[in-house]
Amino acid sequence: MKLTDAQREQVESLLSLMTLDEKIGQMNQESPSIVGGFDVPFSELIEMLTDGRLPQKEFEKIMATAKQDFHEDDIRAGLVGSVMGNDPRKANELQKIAVEETRLGIPLIIGFDVIHGLRSVYPIAIAEAGSFDDALFEETARMAARESRACGVCWNFAPMIDVARDARWGRVSEGPGEDPCLASRFARAKIRGLQNDRSSTENYVAACTKHYVAYGACEGGRDYNTTSMAVSQLYNVYLPAFRAAVEEGAATAMASFNDLNGVPCTVNEYTLRDILKGEFGLEGFVVSDANAIKECVIHGIAENDAGAGIQAAKAGMDMDMGTHIYRDHLRKAVEEGKVPPAVIDEAVRRILSVKVWLGLFERPYVPEEVIEAYEKGLPPAHVALARRAAEESVVLLKNEGGVLPLKKDAKISLVGTLAGSADEVCGAWAMGWKKEDCVSILDGLNKAGGNVAYYPCGGPEGELNAAEIESACAEGDVIVAVVGETVSMTGEASSKANISLPGRQRELLQRLLASGKPVVTVLMNGRPLALQWEAEHLPVLVEAWHLGIQMGNALAAVLYGVVNPGAKLASSFPAVSGQCPVYYNHPSTGRPAGKSKFTSKYLDAPWEPVFPFGYGLSYTSFAYSGLRVEEQPAYLDISVTVKNTGARRGTEVAQLYMRDVAASLVRPVKECKDYARFELDPGEEKTVRFTLQKRDMGFYNNDAAYVLEPGAFVIYVGGNSRDVLEQEIEIRSFS
Ligand code: BGC
Repeated sequence: MKLTDAQREQVESLLSLMTLDEKIGQMNQESPSIVGGFDVPFSELIEMLTDGRLPQKEFEKIMATAKQDFHEDDIRAGLVGSVMGNDPRKANELQKIAVEETRLGIPLIIGFDVIHGLRSVYPIAIAEAGSFDDALFEETARMAARESRACGVCWNFAPMIDVARDARWGRVSEGPGEDPCLASRFARAKIRGLQNDRSSTENYVAACTKHYVAYGACEGGRDYNTTSMAVSQLYNVYLPAFRAAVEEGAATAMASFNDLNGVPCTVNEYTLRDILKGEFGLEGFVVSDANAIKECVIHGIAENDAGAGIQAAKAGMDMDMGTHIYRDHLRKAVEEGKVPPAVIDEAVRRILSVKVWLGLFERPYVPEEVIEAYEKGLPPAHVALARRAAEESVVLLKNEGGVLPLKKDAKISLVGTLAGSADEVCGAWAMGWKKEDCVSILDGLNKAGGNVAYYPCGGPEGELNAAEIESACAEGDVIVAVVGETVSMTGEASSKANISLPGRQRELLQRLLASGKPVVTVLMNGRPLALQWEAEHLPVLVEAWHLGIQMGNALAAVLYGVVNPGAKLASSFPAVSGQCPVYYNHPSTGRPAGKSKFTSKYLDAPWEPVFPFGYGLSYTSFAYSGLRVEEQPAYLDISVTVKNTGARRGTEVAQLYMRDVAASLVRPVKECKDYARFELDPGEEKTVRFTLQKRDMGFYNNDAAYVLEPGAFVIYVGGNSRDVLEQEIEIRSFS
């Protein structure tokens, strides 16, 4: 986000006209509150529903009488700088109040969680990241930006770029996986897609990178939990994607709920002021996560709301999401000298800068014709992109006996409640989809002209249906079993201690296997699952994640071989839940796992994941040979030959890894440095070249200093993080 001189002047002149209350108003974000029809706060109502005190039916009755309060009076009084929502007509209505009825006519910035698409939902981030396709990451974000603007949303709470290595955490679904290199490329591409097409205000939004920072490291994989780590780990693992996002021009950031080394990220001056705004140079503003300023009292870092607000503002938290603490307490804090006026000015300058950059002063409203066009239905180009993204995100994990691709005339018994449900394809944090756009797996196979009979049999929840299982086994030539997780099992507040297949689905698979028929298992889930038994016993395994509105069509194309799968895993899949966190780029131990008992392993489970980061098969096969590493003054010139050794055209993702053999800090056993995605015809071979800049071979130490240390390095290239060619090289000088 770069402002012109004229835009900067506009911000400064506006700022000079504002009263303290108007400034504080800009720092306040509202979301519609639900009012009426009940005597307790809405949050308690939800708790009552969750803990069973309030039956679903009663809840629905109450909600039918409830109304949404959009805080029109507060907007009119200049007490609101931002609102949440995705209704374009409501957006225009509220915007009109801000623009025409407030003293200075400053438009609202309207934000919403558009994480993986709005109406055109594409795959959840952990799935899309597995395509290793930077151009796709960018295109889907551009599509999301356009749809957002058509709904009055000019600020997307995305991309979520938390590196996450513990699959117990439900929010792994929202992010790009376990690797800082992939996460950084994903972040850059998403920022470009959301922000860079400024040919019209209808084409771009302000991105909000989140959750800053280290949220993915929550202890035990439990959401909102504490995080604690050395500065070197923060800098080498959790910060790179945020640094990349800011370098790419990210307009805003959202602080995370967790504390980091004892200081909640909401009030963390070190991470917000020193690193994000200082070192990285974020130009726009930082918003808290929902209710997070208030939660600083519960964290025990502030005695009361006012104290939490003072700490947050001073730490560089520019906007309060939803607590009213700024609105209610900042004026007094400034008057009493507890918050310097310059802190308020800085926050408001940043917020106004984003509003000016978004063009909101010139075009605050969504044109009626844009709304109407959006309401007519999805543009075919958006559907096609959602489909391509879904096809590119399917990972083939196992295909023994070449059961896949399926023959078109094969009689398929399709099994699993997930297979028949269009409600389950979009995954967690998808808020704008319409059922009529969503294609279930059953619909997809039927539309592809498959010979399919559907037997729900059972799913992630509930009992198995013995009669249906019997029929499925008796009738089909081949059984396609769709198992996994419902949407509600992943996402926010959905951590799990046991991440093997939920419910009785393993038993379902055992019964299907007992039929002796070929069984194709399709996984539909939002996190890496613990798959020791499945990897051992199931001949065919397809990871299909939650692929978005086009899930059924994309999966059918893969199963019938119209599309040759080429995605890889963006996260390692554990054998058992107790292995978590398991990730490929862990620091070297003094006793790496081996035959001896006294090595770093488990007595009762393997120590390795069942499927490592970067893993994924194809209907064809690829062979790697001839790794060469040549040192140039400023970079390493690395090349390898990749050959398609199978019988059909396919996509491969070649991955470059590095190991710093001896350094002043323990370094990862391997770390991804680059990747290249390409297609090859049968028999075709290609020399894949990587240029590894020497300046990128260093690391951050515990003083947050970036160091380049000469010595031995091992370079690896392969089709996943485990099966690689390697060559050692001595780097004598980095200058
Ligand atoms: C989530 C954020 C989200 C925000 C606003 C929070 O609960 O942690 O990711 O952007 O709500 O909806």
